[in-house]
Amino acid sequence: MLTKKMNEALNEQVKWELYSSYLYLSMAAWCADIGLGGVARWMRAQAQEEDFHGKKFYDYILERGGKVRLLAIDQPPHEWKDVIDLFEETLKHERAVTARINALVDVAMEERDHATNIFLQWFVSEQVEEEDNVNDVLAKLRLIGGRGEGLFYLDKELGMRVFTPPVPAE
Ligand code: FEO
Repeated sequence: MLTKKMNEALNEQVKWELYSSYLYLSMAAWCADIGLGGVARWMRAQAQEEDFHGKKFYDYILERGGKVRLLAIDQPPHEWKDVIDLFEETLKHERAVTARINALVDVAMEERDHATNIFLQWFVSEQVEEEDNVNDVLAKLRLIGGRGEGLFYLDKELGMRVFTPPVPAE
C-alpha cells in the first residue's frame, strides 16, 4: 500500500512524464516544419519513450493498490530559436526531470517505502542515460555550428533512432 503522500507524488510524476512526451511531440512538429525530418523522428521516439515512462509510473501505482489520478497537462512551447536552442531546452528539461526523480526518492525514503525506492532506481539510471544522450547530440551540434552540411548529416544520423520498449525482467 502506498502512503497518501507517496501516491500523490507518483501521480504528479505521471503528469510530468506525459508532459515530457507532449513537449517532445511539439519539438518534433517544429523540426518537421523546418525540414529536419531526422531530428523530428528522434523527437518522436523521445516522445514515445516518455509516454512509456508515464505508463510505467501509472502501472506501478495500480500494482501497489494506489489511486491513479490524471492531472491537467500544461501546453508545451512550440517555437525555438534554432536547433541548438532546441537541444539546450531539451537538456534543461531532462535535468529538471532528474531533479524530480531525485525528489521522489527522497519522499520514498521519508515514507520508508523501500519498494518504491527500488522501483525509482530504474529511473535514476535512466536519467543518467537520457542526459548523456542529449549532451552528446548537443556537443555534435555545437561542433558543426548547428547548420549547413554538418546539420544535414547529423539529421540523417538522428533519423535512425527507433524507440523499443525495454523487455520486462522475469
Ligand atoms: Fe522520462 Fe526524459 O525522462
